[in-house]
Amino acid sequence: MNNPFAAIKISERVYWVGAIDNEIRDFHGYSTSRGTTYNAYLILGEKPILVDTVKAPFFPEMLARIASVIEPEKISYIISNHAELDHSGALLPTIEAIKPEKVFVSKMGAAALKEHFNRHLDLTEIKSGESFTLGDANLVCLETRMLHWPDSMFTYFANDNILFSQDGFGMHLATYKIFAEENERTTLQHEAMKYFANILLPYSSFVTKLLDVFPSFGLDVKILAPDHGPIWHQVQDINWIMGLWQKWAKQEPTDKIVICYDTMWDSTAKMARAIADGIMTEKAEPKVMPLSSCHRSDIAVELLEAGALLVGSPTINNQIFPTVADVLCYLKGLKPQNLIGQAFGSYGWSGESIQLLQEELKSIKIELFDNPIKAKYVPNNDCLVLCKNLGQNIARKLKS
Ligand code: FEO
Repeated sequence: MNNPFAAIKISERVYWVGAIDNEIRDFHGYSTSRGTTYNAYLILGEKPILVDTVKAPFFPEMLARIASVIEPEKISYIISNHAELDHSGALLPTIEAIKPEKVFVSKMGAAALKEHFNRHLDLTEIKSGESFTLGDANLVCLETRMLHWPDSMFTYFANDNILFSQDGFGMHLATYKIFAEENERTTLQHEAMKYFANILLPYSSFVTKLLDVFPSFGLDVKILAPDHGPIWHQVQDINWIMGLWQKWAKQEPTDKIVICYDTMWDSTAKMARAIADGIMTEKAEPKVMPLSSCHRSDIAVELLEAGALLVGSPTINNQIFPTVADVLCYLKGLKPQNLIGQAFGSYGWSGESIQLLQEELKSIKIELFDNPIKAKYVPNNDCLVLCKNLGQNIARKLKS
């Protein structure tokens, strides 16, 4: 009873032995305002198996949770579904502590782990899609390349109908309610959407392909256990999250128009407000996102269910305002699809940023709606009417 951390039973033979990170607020550029979890799973049986580990600082916690169920040295195997360090950071100390007979990885995982740790590792590559047995555990591993890394893999534990889906169907949410159904549905939907928009978006076509072929694998999944956030523990919830992924991967445009901007002396902000007014009069949805209070990862979330992106920036020292440049760089990597867009902004001398913004939108493959709108110093009434007209026209186009 002197163990501070306990494993949580999630099925007949499987325990959650992960860690809850209440403090993380930045996940390589993505704002994790509700923290996250690093989920690792212990399968009991003739030959106990550990599925994934945790971020390095949480290794003692994971080991303590394992020890609340069995002596860690009794674990025979590790399956590493994903090499990213939030799941493999504790792999080396875990191997050292439990000395498993084998560590199973995908082909790409073997290469990635060796390159991460820059040392020889005795890893066993698994063939994707082939059933295999470890002791009395019946398993299938499925490579899910580029979901979201080349090494990514799912593991299905047939005895308890659990699919361990590493980052798949996860979210950054530090919660002590480890089953999805115990959490607020709106929170789950928001955080799952944020995760998809910021992590999976560039790989949407891979998501669609996977979900299209998934039924053909014939897996009877009753529990979906990702490496972040709550566990999908009810079949209707599994269908719900998979349905959302299917929808998000399509990136179908709506009549929501995201207006993302920053401002120096309120001129660009005035233009943004006039554009929003035009959108409102057409009964479309303006989403006004000043970068003084909106994070780049929140822009990505809103764009996932939008039809247009309007970007505004003043010109500062012949350049785009730094916060706006930051968002555009981030979006270029996320490769959002099916958007139209346009630039607007104020300037004092030469106004380079407006043309630079249009070029950036083109490079993100956002279809330009019209020529950009520029205001010298402070937008006059005519300029604000032009902004309002832009809002109306773009809204009409999306609603038509
Ligand atoms: Fe949660 Fe791709 O690591």
